[in-house]
Amino acid sequence: MLYLNENDIRRSVSFEAMMDTIEQSLRIFAKGEYVMADRLAVPGGDTTMLYMPCFAGGFAGTKILASCPDNPKQGLPALSGIVLLNRADNGQILAIMDGATITALRTGAVGGMAIRNLADENAHTVGLVGCGVQGVHQLTYACRVRNIEKIYLYDAVQSDLSGFIARLEGMITPMKPEIIVCASADEVLEKSEIVITATPSKKPLFSNNPQLFKGKCIIAIGSWQPDMRELPDAVWEYADVVYTELPFACEETGDLSQPLESGVLTEDRVKYFGDFLLEKDKGIVHTLGETRFYKSVGMGIYDTMAAQQIYKTALERGFGQELK
Ligand SMILES: NC(=O)c1ccc[n+]([C@@H]2O[C@H](COP(=O)([O-])OP(=O)(O)OC[C@H]3O[C@@H](n4cnc5c(N)ncnc54)[C@H](O)[C@@H]3O)[C@@H](O)[C@H]2O)c1
Repeated sequence: MLYLNENDIRRSVSFEAMMDTIEQSLRIFAKGEYVMADRLAVPGGDTTMLYMPCFAGGFAGTKILASCPDNPKQGLPALSGIVLLNRADNGQILAIMDGATITALRTGAVGGMAIRNLADENAHTVGLVGCGVQGVHQLTYACRVRNIEKIYLYDAVQSDLSGFIARLEGMITPMKPEIIVCASADEVLEKSEIVITATPSKKPLFSNNPQLFKGKCIIAIGSWQPDMRELPDAVWEYADVVYTELPFACEETGDLSQPLESGVLTEDRVKYFGDFLLEKDKGIVHTLGETRFYKSVGMGIYDTMAAQQIYKTALERGFGQELK
């Protein structure tokens, strides 16, 4: 079996190919051509273990992640883990891959793919709240799908964002947008056409003011448990619909479960992006509202499809380490 570390994974896939893989995963989901369990989250004190098995595309993939949101305070990553890739027919393990790298690349690609499909073609500004591992990847993809001239940043915990900015500049080179650090999440929202949230917050990041959300393209990445929430109720004033990945998202994330429970949001306004893509393939034109909203919780198909694409390229090019 092959072991693929961060470097092997990064040189096996381009950002563009990863966004295409995400779209392909959403189409597979919409057509029902997969077998996937709801994500199992096992809490153990400060660590939650996440198990994400899925059969799709002729392979079986399983991501196992440890989520420790307080880790960055000790200089450790919030997420660490592996992705296992098995043959679907006889179960033999083909590869073990670094799970944090696959997560960052595929989650960035989800945001990039959502911006590619939903944001105004002429959007030149993007804002990020939560300047961590997912955040830097989200911005990297955003810069590849729109001609971004200004990036606005806010982080409630880190006061010095110079390390984040250096990493971002390295990832988006040769593009050189102006990068501006803001004093609040509201300022990011006011100044940006596209707004990305990538925090483990349990409270809305923005004021509950509907006007702030008017005409924005919002990509919410961070919340994946019912007690986690990044967006206030005000977002529903102008967002006619929210696009997400799968029905389980309505239970899993507080960004959907809380407004559904209080009645601020109704289920008919929750749409699945795989259906959107299949309809688009058939030539059905969607009239998008002025305010657009994609809420991602992630799902195992993304990891299984990304892992098999990376594995095939690594095998062809001789990347990785053979484990006996
Ligand atoms: N949707 C998905 O598929 C998906 C995939 C991976 C991770 N996630 C989630 O995304 C979130 C971010 O993950 P990460 O790996 O980037 O973590 P990270 O720790 O690297 O980054 C999070 C950043 O948010 C900042 N932050 C925390 N609370 C904040 C607040 N209230 N306001 C502003 N900034 C705040 C932190 O200082 C940190 O810089 C986590 O909740 C993670 O579980 C979602």
